[in-house]
Amino acid sequence: MTQPRRNKQLHPLRKRCNNALPRMTPRELLHRLSSGQASLRAACANAYGHHPDLIETACTRLWALARHYADTFSPDDSIVVVRAPGRVNLIGEHTDYNGLPVMPMAISRDVLVMASRAADMSVSISNVEGMFEPRAFLLERHIPPFAPGDWGNYVKSAMQGLIDHWGSADGLSGLRMAISGNVPVASGLSSSAAFTIACALALLTVHKRALDPLQFADVMAQSDHYVGMASGGMDQAASILGRAGACLKIDFFPLRVQPVQLPPGTAIVVCHSRVKAAKAGNARDEYNRRVVECRLATAVLHAAAPSSAREPQLLSQWLAWDTSGLDDAVARINATLHPEPYRLPELARILSLSEEKLRATLCTTKTGIRCSEPPNGFHLLKRARHVITETRRVEAALAVLTAMPPDAARRFGELMNQSHVSCRDDYAISCPELEELVSAARDAGAYGARLTGAGFGGCTVNLVPADAAPQFIQAVNRAYYAPHQLDHLPDNQFIFAPASGAGVLVA
Ligand code: GLA
Repeated sequence: MTQPRRNKQLHPLRKRCNNALPRMTPRELLHRLSSGQASLRAACANAYGHHPDLIETACTRLWALARHYADTFSPDDSIVVVRAPGRVNLIGEHTDYNGLPVMPMAISRDVLVMASRAADMSVSISNVEGMFEPRAFLLERHIPPFAPGDWGNYVKSAMQGLIDHWGSADGLSGLRMAISGNVPVASGLSSSAAFTIACALALLTVHKRALDPLQFADVMAQSDHYVGMASGGMDQAASILGRAGACLKIDFFPLRVQPVQLPPGTAIVVCHSRVKAAKAGNARDEYNRRVVECRLATAVLHAAAPSSAREPQLLSQWLAWDTSGLDDAVARINATLHPEPYRLPELARILSLSEEKLRATLCTTKTGIRCSEPPNGFHLLKRARHVITETRRVEAALAVLTAMPPDAARRFGELMNQSHVSCRDDYAISCPELEELVSAARDAGAYGARLTGAGFGGCTVNLVPADAAPQFIQAVNRAYYAPHQLDHLPDNQFIFAPASGAGVLVA
């Protein structure tokens, strides 16, 4: 595998700050917006692209944000404005928490935060769209969470993540924050990562503190655990390190990012199944169970052929000690793990642990959530096989996009299709609606179509010929949205170009 260098200059979060407008009041911002000031439009173009429609949309959102802030807090506070995008994952699903690569891109939908320094340590948050009730809490070394599932925990996780990184809340003051987002929620497009990162960037910017973007992505990935997800670092890395015009091959431990171009003449169309994949509900439990199954598989594979090295915790570590490569790793998984689900007594015997010890260690996520044995047992063969074959597909996708042969779109699309089959059959994260959407997309001429994100609902991602994207959208509308009587809803389908990562509009 090629290992791109860890290069600070690749991701100029700081440069994005340098292009930002100086701190101002909401009153001034509203005035500049109403006079169509050139520097403001330039800042929006820098973040969203130069098309007049994109700049107009950005100005409209900023207007609503400034009005909301002024009405909720004060029109005369000295404010900063930051943004963090959602992401769509093209290939490499459920590999990140195994330490294995992914290939997402940041999208043009994002979360905007307008913030100012509070007079005390209180953090107050108000949402422009009114989707979330206002929340307030105190900034302190250890911030106690709200009730499980409360949206305010995402704000707390952002603050706690940075405070943990600094080791103290000294020198900080609280924040007044107005938040506006247009990333569809619970759709597999990482609205929660966008939200958390925007809040953290607001804290950094208000306090004029800086973090290297790669380190920021690592800190934010850790902070996700505050909300009980044992997730990997893909969403945070894509949102922070996103590049306009490029998707990202991301490797972990240490975090490394390589921008790659999509095949020429293609477009990415994302279709929402309208099945909610809520991180706070059943999808979270299913997700955490997959994490546990991967850890159990790693332990069983190691027990079957122990290496002299330290016991691997992740499939990436097991792989690294298996020098014979990915193809051979798949063969070894097929030969070592049996297809029947594993029950706790058998696992305890193989791993020479008591069942209680097993429950308390490998079956407990690093967020402290104990994952009970599923009624049919743990599926180790299928889960490990998905992760390793998916890794092989990500590497193959990178090779296609790097060499960019004339049939790159077809070959990349084929890898996406194979990824979907593996997500469905080996990882069991699809659902009937996603299946319908994927087959509608293939019938409508997609080079490749697959579920994206954690699964269990949410969106599909489709690689389509760019000039046929409008017809593709109509065909999927006829095949899926109309029969399900969803065609009246906004935001069913999106054409996304790779967008730039998190940044600062007003510093
Ligand atoms: C969620 C997690 C990510 C990743 C994906 C699945 O989005 O937050 O870390 O594991 O699921 O690929």
